[in-house]
Amino acid sequence: MISKKMLDSLNNHLNEEVYSSYLYLSMAAYFEEKNLKGFGQWFKIQSQEEYMHGMKFYDFINQTGGKVNLKAIAAPKTNWKSIMEVFKDTLAHEKHITELINKLVGQAMQEKNYATNNFLQWFVTEQVEEEANVEEIINKLEMIGDNKGGLYMLDRELGARTTAG
Ligand code: FEO
Repeated sequence: MISKKMLDSLNNHLNEEVYSSYLYLSMAAYFEEKNLKGFGQWFKIQSQEEYMHGMKFYDFINQTGGKVNLKAIAAPKTNWKSIMEVFKDTLAHEKHITELINKLVGQAMQEKNYATNNFLQWFVTEQVEEEANVEEIINKLEMIGDNKGGLYMLDRELGARTTAG
């Protein structure tokens, strides 16, 4: 049995993950238009990954006998001043998601809802990885600076990403 309050929080978070998918797809579109196909590919896969995260919430809510309530998805930002700004926004967004996951864990523990707490632990681990991946790319961008060759190499490296996971 899941409380109404917990169910509302899980439904809210489902929306956050789908919004993340939408935001990263907007970033993919930004790069595609700039002919940085590798960056675009990385964000397309990232977008798919976020959709899968949303679906994990969708499935879990159903499994607990709760009702999924889909809400409006906010329009994402569509333009950035630089590649670095895109990744800084990505890192800030992931930190925001980490904070929300931590709050959900806190709520599940307070309600002694062990099943939900257990479900959320996958996301606790995932968020560490998500933040680390983005930080690594930011570090590379800092090293590259204005070097076009370096940017070309990074675009190729990021374009090799083929699966969400
Ligand atoms: Fe689903 Fe990137 O957090």
